[in-house]
Amino acid sequence: MADTILVTGGAGYIGSHTTLALLEAGHEVVVLDNLCNSSLESLRRVERICGKAPLFVQGDIRDRAGLDALFAAHKIDAVLHFAGLKSVGQSVSQPLEYYENNVAGSVILAQAMAAAGVFQLVFSSSATVYGEPAQMPISEDVPTGTPTNPYGRSKLMVEELLQDLADSDPRWRIALLRYFNPVGAHTSGLIGEDPNGIPNNLLPYVSQVAIGTLKQVSVFGADYPTVDGTGVRDYIHVLDLADGHLKALQAISQRSGVSIWNLGTGVGYSVLQMIRAFEQASGRPVPYQVVDRRPGDIAECWADPTKAAQELGWKAERCLAQMMADTWRWQSGNPQGYAQ
Ligand code: NAD
Ligand code: UD1
Repeated sequence: MADTILVTGGAGYIGSHTTLALLEAGHEVVVLDNLCNSSLESLRRVERICGKAPLFVQGDIRDRAGLDALFAAHKIDAVLHFAGLKSVGQSVSQPLEYYENNVAGSVILAQAMAAAGVFQLVFSSSATVYGEPAQMPISEDVPTGTPTNPYGRSKLMVEELLQDLADSDPRWRIALLRYFNPVGAHTSGLIGEDPNGIPNNLLPYVSQVAIGTLKQVSVFGADYPTVDGTGVRDYIHVLDLADGHLKALQAISQRSGVSIWNLGTGVGYSVLQMIRAFEQASGRPVPYQVVDRRPGDIAECWADPTKAAQELGWKAERCLAQMMADTWRWQSGNPQGYAQ
């Protein structure tokens, strides 16, 4: 029987790809999004791709009355919780916005869920909770560290408060999914990442240089102790990430308490390797210049994805070339993102 899943932040980058995967798997989907960093066009395109639409509710996770009305109107079986703010730089200048949306918003959502008798929750966490880890690759038993910014701290706070919640009431079944670096787009080229203004993250920046919107990539440091001196990260295709959510949802229906899974590939690539791979996929030059290190960056970070493989039967399937090709198809077909 198809379950009904509430997807908070479902109009956003990862949420829209996961909404599509849920619909394709036969679930009913209710999306709750305040559209502060997304547009409804993403969900129209989800419908174009799969012929099915989620039910859309424009609203805010901080609005308890709105949540109560939503849970009263729909019989929700589980919640995938993507809604939140995610810009590291903005979190430094507007910390209270981040604590209010990410932390207070998650508290209010969990309160509304409990009141409605819904206890299955999948939370979008981040590898940022590991801080500067002492060992590589990073497995889930590496202790969480000290994130370097309010965004990262907000993710760690939500992880901790959800752990306290599960300890207080055995009905909760919670997955904390620690994403490594999500990239890529749906193979149709119809949905993808549509960052607001100048991108902070590497791949959206590189693809805007390739399309000609931006002039050159600033490579933040070439003196790290890595393969070529530039930062190494575990980039994971957003479609693999979406599949991981479906597997996590299935798993928590069978296990109580909190389960933590890394969602990464287990392979790291440097900034220069990423630039070269993008040039190859796009056939466009990507000029770059090495500049100073970005404060707060670590040298390298990649996942040990063994636990998710063993417990979820999930592993990332898509290689770097596909991440690049899909990003380029989305970027070149939608140079202005959804705004056209
Ligand atoms: P996104 O900004 O594209 O999506 C977030 C969505 O949440 C947006 O559609 C936005 O409008 C909505 N939203 C924000 N605050 C809201 C609120 N108070 N009420 C209702 N809706 C709200 O971001 P994304 O890249 O899809 O990220 C999804 C989640 O994954 C976020 O929680 C993010 O912190 C986490 N995450 C993202 C990355 C990444 O690199 N993209 C990495 C690790 C973790
Ligand atoms: C960043 C955030 C992290 C967040 C993640 C996804 C920081 C410190 N961390 O991770 O909390 O979860 O994004 O949103 O901001 N790079 C360049 N030039 C650029 C952009 C990036 O050289 O213009 C380099 C970075 O130094 C890094 C790599 O590319 O080595 C990846 O950077 P980015 O895409 O921003 O991701 P993270 O820093 O890993």
